[in-house]
Amino acid sequence: MSDRPDPGAPVLTIDGPSGSGKGTVARQVAQALGWHLLDSGALYRAVGLLAAERGIDATDVPALAALARELPIAFAATDEGVSVRLEGRARDHDLRTEEAGAAASAVAALAPVRDALLARQRAFRQAPGLVADGRDMGTVVFPDAPCKVFLTASAEERARRRLNQLMEKGVAATLDALLADIRLRDARDSERSVAPLRAADGALRIDSTGMSVGQVVGQVLDFVHLHGLQS
Ligand code: DC
Repeated sequence: MSDRPDPGAPVLTIDGPSGSGKGTVARQVAQALGWHLLDSGALYRAVGLLAAERGIDATDVPALAALARELPIAFAATDEGVSVRLEGRARDHDLRTEEAGAAASAVAALAPVRDALLARQRAFRQAPGLVADGRDMGTVVFPDAPCKVFLTASAEERARRRLNQLMEKGVAATLDALLADIRLRDARDSERSVAPLRAADGALRIDSTGMSVGQVVGQVLDFVHLHGLQS
């Protein structure tokens, strides 16, 4: 993929809180449509992870913005989907930890970091189309996207999903602690002054509580077809 965006390529934005199933849904929809995929959370996680590893202080905003601007990140296609490489090394596992998520949430509240990542995110807009997953895809990064989805699920359901994921990995956790963590992160992501989490105007709202991934993917694909973006 070249670095030059194609402003004419269609974009489907999928925004929503942690644990709403956005990542899985975005991946499956992109696969079904044969479109590119942008996991914007991975960019914020990469800034948080590399900042911690390089000893950059959480209050050193210019250094964090410089890191975001020069972020040595690449996305490589694999059999399972997409692998994220930092400085040429696959770091998928390290990027998915709770610590990386918390570090991402902190750097994501800084306007200079968000600004530094804008052009890089927009470079993903290429033919035949892009599915962009995040918090501000429909509101800030791709405000002109023809199709926007806002995916939610109750905090309890999201905590239960997270608990199941962790149990599968053999990681100990409690539902109460996960629920408290999800509520804290929701508050931080939606109450921050820059690019707070909110549904874009005209976004299709889907509450995935009690729905299977397949059902959500089906609804999103119907929505894309309704807009005449894919036959
Ligand atoms: O989707 P995720 O869990 O990988 O996101 C990690 C953090 O990054 C989350 O706290 C919110 C933030 N984020 C953001 O502010 N804007 C985005 N477009 C994507 C993620």
